[in-house]
Amino acid sequence: MIPVNEPLIGARESEYILECLRTGWISSEGRFINEFEEWWSSYCGMKYGVAVSNGTVALEIAVACLNLQPGDEVILPTFTIISCAQAVTNNGGKPVLVDSDLRTWCMDVDQVSTKITPRTRAIMPVHIYGHPVDMDPILELAGRYNLVIIEDAAEAHGGEYKGYKCGGMGDLNCFSFYANKIVTTGEGGMVLTNNGKYAERLRSLRNLCFKKERRFYHTELGNNYRLTNLQAAIGLAQLERIEESVAKKRLMAQTYSERLSDLPILQLPTEETWAKNVYWMYGIVLDESAGMNAVEFARRLAEKGVMTRPFFLGMHEQPAFRDLGLFGGEHYPVAERIARQGLYLPSGMTLTEAQIEQVCHAVHQVIA
Ligand SMILES: Cc1ncc(COP(=O)(O)O)c(C=O)c1O
Repeated sequence: MIPVNEPLIGARESEYILECLRTGWISSEGRFINEFEEWWSSYCGMKYGVAVSNGTVALEIAVACLNLQPGDEVILPTFTIISCAQAVTNNGGKPVLVDSDLRTWCMDVDQVSTKITPRTRAIMPVHIYGHPVDMDPILELAGRYNLVIIEDAAEAHGGEYKGYKCGGMGDLNCFSFYANKIVTTGEGGMVLTNNGKYAERLRSLRNLCFKKERRFYHTELGNNYRLTNLQAAIGLAQLERIEESVAKKRLMAQTYSERLSDLPILQLPTEETWAKNVYWMYGIVLDESAGMNAVEFARRLAEKGVMTRPFFLGMHEQPAFRDLGLFGGEHYPVAERIARQGLYLPSGMTLTEAQIEQVCHAVHQVIA
């Protein structure tokens, strides 16, 4: 089977890990944590980085910085991972959804203004599968209505919008470093911000809200969301190679696109003129005229030794949110369609050109 993802771990990762083991800095303090936070924030053009244990909690503590009151709203795409909407509900707020853009599969920015109400507090653009969201309209709305922007750049490490890094444009910008991400720490995450008060709050929330003045005295409840120095050691080694990794993803996507562009029945990933797509995952959408949905397509590809993953299922179609009384009767046709017809092909960092060739051959056979 050609795996859908496989991380690339180099000699530098081992060297840094061994340093942790030798020196005993294996928990959540040490040089790698500091360097990873500093390098990542400066790579994205932000002042402060707060490393945490995964991308889900990065979003949770970023939203916690808003101090949402019951009924406060955050606008986000329906087509995303549940972590985004859950970060809002876990903080007592109400997620408000928009549909996806037909070409990029990111949030349809034209719908955002129609969803703003007096209770809107923030907008959460999510850069999907490596392609940036069209940020200008969002930045403009945030300025006009005094809204906070929480970027989710988990899938777009190194991606750019008009020369700005994904995760370098919002007020609070979240990342995941899960093993399938372009930069990985195994499990891990980070929040970036230019706001010193947010940075302080984020640091407190990730560390049980300990007080500096008096140890074991708490005026607020937090969690242990700390990243370890061991994980940061892997992250730093990965970050040193980020340009190489991004170039590799882009080359893989180019190879896929060249070999699949003769199949008009497939929608391939795009790259808008204002975007640098890092093609975190090479997603394709199969036209209904193929007489197959993504589940059947995936099953037939698996028979030929190709592993795939289905696209996200929209937040408005999640029973867990329906049970909370959210999104009843709402429909988002683009997200609903791509959820049923979309999947992504093997896109891991170790994928070879010969494997891409094999995958494309299998796709051609299944479609024929
Ligand atoms: C867009 C997006 N946000 C957040 C997350 C959550 O990250 P984690 O898996 O590290 O909790 C993911 C997960 O892969 C993601 O794709």
